[in-house]
Amino acid sequence: MGEHGDGPPVVPEARTLRFHELAEAGHRILNPLSEAKLDLLGDVAPPPPAGGHLDLACGKGELLCRWAQRFGVHGTGVDISEVFLADAAARAAELGVAERVRLVQANAATHEAPAAAFDTVSCLGATWIGGGLVGMLALMAPALAPGGTLLVGEPYWHEPPPEDVRSALAQEGDFADLAGTLGRVESAGWELVEMVLADGDDWDRYVASQWRTMSDWLRAHPGDPDAPDFAAWLDEARRAYLAHERRYLGWGVFVLRRP
Ligand SMILES: C[S@@+](CC[C@H](N)C(=O)[O-])C[C@H]1O[C@@H](n2cnc3c(N)ncnc32)[C@H](O)[C@@H]1O
Repeated sequence: MGEHGDGPPVVPEARTLRFHELAEAGHRILNPLSEAKLDLLGDVAPPPPAGGHLDLACGKGELLCRWAQRFGVHGTGVDISEVFLADAAARAAELGVAERVRLVQANAATHEAPAAAFDTVSCLGATWIGGGLVGMLALMAPALAPGGTLLVGEPYWHEPPPEDVRSALAQEGDFADLAGTLGRVESAGWELVEMVLADGDDWDRYVASQWRTMSDWLRAHPGDPDAPDFAAWLDEARRAYLAHERRYLGWGVFVLRRP
C-alpha cells in the first residue's frame, strides 16, 4: 500500500497500519478522547433522532455505535483497517445496533458516499487523508445534507513549537494553534459552533496505554519479523511524546456548520 505526495501517505503503509492495530488493540477510541468526552460530544452536537451519519476513518466505530444506541442514528463507517472494522462490527453487535451501523473497508480519500445524504459527517483524527484540515473538509462536504453538521478531530499547537519539534512532527501534518485552526475552518467556509478538547490525562490514556500493549506484544512475539522495527518505533514514540508532543500538541473535535 502507499499513496505518497508531499504530505503523509493517504493510505498508511501495511507495516505502519499493523503497528497501530497492535498498539491500539486495547483501545475503543483511537484518539486522545475519553469515553466521557465522547458522550459530551453527543451533548453539545446532538444529531437529529434517527438521522444519517457518515464517519470517515471510523476505526473501531465507537462514535457510530454509541450514537446509534443513544440517538438511533443510522451510520456508515469507512476505514482502511480490516482489524479495526472487525472490532467495530463486534462492538455494534455488543451494543445491539448492528442493523443501524454499516461498515465499509475502503480508502476514505476515494470512497464515494451518496451526495447530500448525511445529517452528520465526521472524521476524528485522520485529516491527512485529505492532505490536511482544509482538504479533509472539502472531502467531507459533498456527503453532508443541507443544514448538517461536520465533526472534525484535529491536532493543534498549544504554543508555537521550536522548529526542530515542528519538523519532527511535520510527517503528522501542518498544524496551527487554536486561533489558526479557527482561521482555517472559516477560510474553508464553515462556522465553528462548538468544540471538545482533549486534556493531558486524555493524551496519557491514549498514548501511554499503547506502550504497555506494545511492550506485552513484543515480549510475546520476539521472533516476529516486524518485532525489531516495532521495538524501535515504540522507543521513539515514547521518547517523542515525553520530550515534546505532550507539551506542544493539543487535540480536539471541532463542530462545524455552514454559516
Ligand atoms: C487516529 S485513528 C482514528 C479512528 C477513529 N476515528 C476514532 O476516533 O477512534 C485513524 C484511523 O484512520 C484509519 N485510516 C488511515 N488511513 C485511512 C484511509 N486512507 N482511509 C480510511 N481509513 C484510514 C486507520 O485505520 C484508523 O482507524
